[in-house]
Amino acid sequence: MTTLTIRRPDDWHLHLRDGEMLKGVLPETARHFARAIIMPNLVPPVVTAKDAAEYRDRIMAAKPDNSDFQPLMTLYLTEDTNVKDLRAAHEIGLITAVKLYPAGATTNSASGVKDFKNVRRQLETMAQIGLPLCIHGEVTDPDVDIFDREAVFIDTILDPLRRDIPGLRVISEHITTKDGVDYIRENKDIAATITTHHLVINRNHILVGGIKPHYYCLPVAKREQHRLALVEAATSGDPHFFLGTDSAPHTDDLKEHACGCAGCFTATNTLSILAEVFEQEGKLGTLEKFTSLNGPAFYKLPANQDTITLTKGDPVTYPAKIDTGAGPVTVFDPLMPLHWRVT
Ligand code: NCD
Ligand code: ZN
Repeated sequence: MTTLTIRRPDDWHLHLRDGEMLKGVLPETARHFARAIIMPNLVPPVVTAKDAAEYRDRIMAAKPDNSDFQPLMTLYLTEDTNVKDLRAAHEIGLITAVKLYPAGATTNSASGVKDFKNVRRQLETMAQIGLPLCIHGEVTDPDVDIFDREAVFIDTILDPLRRDIPGLRVISEHITTKDGVDYIRENKDIAATITTHHLVINRNHILVGGIKPHYYCLPVAKREQHRLALVEAATSGDPHFFLGTDSAPHTDDLKEHACGCAGCFTATNTLSILAEVFEQEGKLGTLEKFTSLNGPAFYKLPANQDTITLTKGDPVTYPAKIDTGAGPVTVFDPLMPLHWRVT
């Protein structure tokens, strides 16, 4: 096969930031993707309907000319989130989901949830009105090893929370473990996003031969056996798994730092990488489900009508960095030749 035409993809987990960074990174996503779930972890976070409406306007203003990219807005859940405001934001179609960060789990999560009992009313409302919850599924207990934080979260928080609030539709964001894959397969009303980079790297890529800050993200990449489980899930066609790149730009000075920021920037080359991974598995036929069909089906949105075509040829090169007004951002290096380009 040398060409592949698929419905236009969507990105179900994306960080666009704000200001000069937003202007610099948005074209990288808008080039190929029709829609994206926009993460609300700005500083300060997007917590009210008003914040989301204003952020949406800034994204629309930063959009390249002729792009019909559509940002799907989210609210950042806090223990003080006003239920009426949340309900109203849903009713007018302003927001597509709500994001739950356990306080301290990742970049800009300080305002997140400390005690899950304190967001019960908000979550019950969401179950009632059919508003999906995106969860960053890692515990923050300092006694739990960073490589175990996802598995412990599933057992101690995610599963009890779902039993407590039946009918709540949950997206387990950027899963990184076989435990995550197994949990999604065994349950209903839950789906998972999988990132591009977690299909490519394991923890050795971060640590062997010198520390590689551009491979550091949260949840941190795990052992090879977990990467293999993610590849199997993503390429299986199972409707509960779909693409959320978690493309998370940080300028190089903040990545290459004594206390480097977490996040891999994959917006630029994601589709070439995914085509390569799926082809290596002999599963190009399921790529469209992962990038373009399973996500809208879970979110109860129509799939995109238009298509993109990927063409196979000589290795494609991408810039090592993109220049943004906020500074240079390194593009994720998949460490393998990429042969598929969007034409
Ligand atoms: C994200 C960011 O930089 O905002 N970082 C990351 O490593 N993925 C936050 C997140 O999604 O955890
Ligand atoms: Zn993220």
